[in-house]
Amino acid sequence: MKANHNYDKLEGSYLFSKIAQKVRDHQNLHPEAKIIRMGIGDVTMPLCDAVISAMHNAVSEMGDIRTFRGYGPEQGYSFLQMAIHDYYAQRKIDLDEKEIFISDGAKSDLGNILDLMDLDNRVLVPDPVYPVYVDTNVMAGRAIEFMNATEENGFLPQPDPSVQADVIYLCSPNNPTGAVFTRDQLKQWVDYAREKGALILFDAAYEAFIRDPQLPRSIYEIPGAKECAIEFCSFSKTAGFTGVRCGYTIVPRTLNADGADLNRMWTRRQTTKFNGVSYISQRAAEAVFQPEGMRQVKANIDYYLGNAAVMMEALDTLKIPYVGGANSPYLWLKCPNQMDSWSFFDLLLKEANLVVTPGAGFGKNGEGFCRLTAFNTRENTIEAMERIKRIL
Ligand code: MLT
Repeated sequence: MKANHNYDKLEGSYLFSKIAQKVRDHQNLHPEAKIIRMGIGDVTMPLCDAVISAMHNAVSEMGDIRTFRGYGPEQGYSFLQMAIHDYYAQRKIDLDEKEIFISDGAKSDLGNILDLMDLDNRVLVPDPVYPVYVDTNVMAGRAIEFMNATEENGFLPQPDPSVQADVIYLCSPNNPTGAVFTRDQLKQWVDYAREKGALILFDAAYEAFIRDPQLPRSIYEIPGAKECAIEFCSFSKTAGFTGVRCGYTIVPRTLNADGADLNRMWTRRQTTKFNGVSYISQRAAEAVFQPEGMRQVKANIDYYLGNAAVMMEALDTLKIPYVGGANSPYLWLKCPNQMDSWSFFDLLLKEANLVVTPGAGFGKNGEGFCRLTAFNTRENTIEAMERIKRIL
């Protein structure tokens, strides 16, 4: 057997595994330390009642011979596709049921989608970036080009007409910076992609955190996007499904690339390599779109955005520059005293028992920055900010 030596080009471990190991080492040395985790964007609020009740019902159905279900459709049950269809219709986005594919989360699909692409594509990725976009391409042996997301452009790079990209990754609200594209900025990307014949992979995992009605929550709010973009979304951050696993990907039927019908190809890929998401998870996801479920998940998101407001206030007091937090669960801050990201990470861990994510882990432009998440409890968020104020 010959191994895939593209793996040799990757960092030794995935960013969040490396951080988890550092935190374990610190906890072993200081078993009494009350560590507050604001590193990986994992939720802390339990599933809402509407979701729990839908899951209980689904479990009961699975225990009854009359309602038991075995394999479901690989692309997802129609009841969930229709709920997603209606969710988009509220924003005047018309999707066909066959364009909606249910998955176990955005991360898997963002990796799996590369099955549809030739190695010989120019892939454009913002820097800093969610590491999955980069690592999955490196694993496949594909070269990547970076575009700079910096303080100067508000961490929202715009297209350069002199560059011919074939595949473009965009994430808004952005992971890791929390910056959000305006409608005009996103339109520039859609226009660019259509002109160049490029495909946009749009990660909308954090769309539910957008509170400003002027900001787009889906790329399909931009005219022409159904001819050039695939959208990935997830219930992980919207409804606290990080441990349940369910997401969805929209592959429009109008999406043709290099003479290929991407919707047909993705259907073929999923029916071959995927056996669908559990019935229980899909019923849980369906409940998110019912009026009561919507109200309850919004209350949880409001709570996290309240945490973000606590963090923004603390950073304002400390005069630490940052972006994000208003329409996003992430805050991206400049490390004080010109510290580099990992030194600031180590300082916060050692002196404040606080875990953040070093910006350098998201790319070279992340150096000198770090990311905080608003997904902790209010009590821990307040305590974390007090600890930061104490040591700075
Ligand atoms: C993050 O912290 O960036 C995310 O939680 C990771 C993920 O969604 O996979």
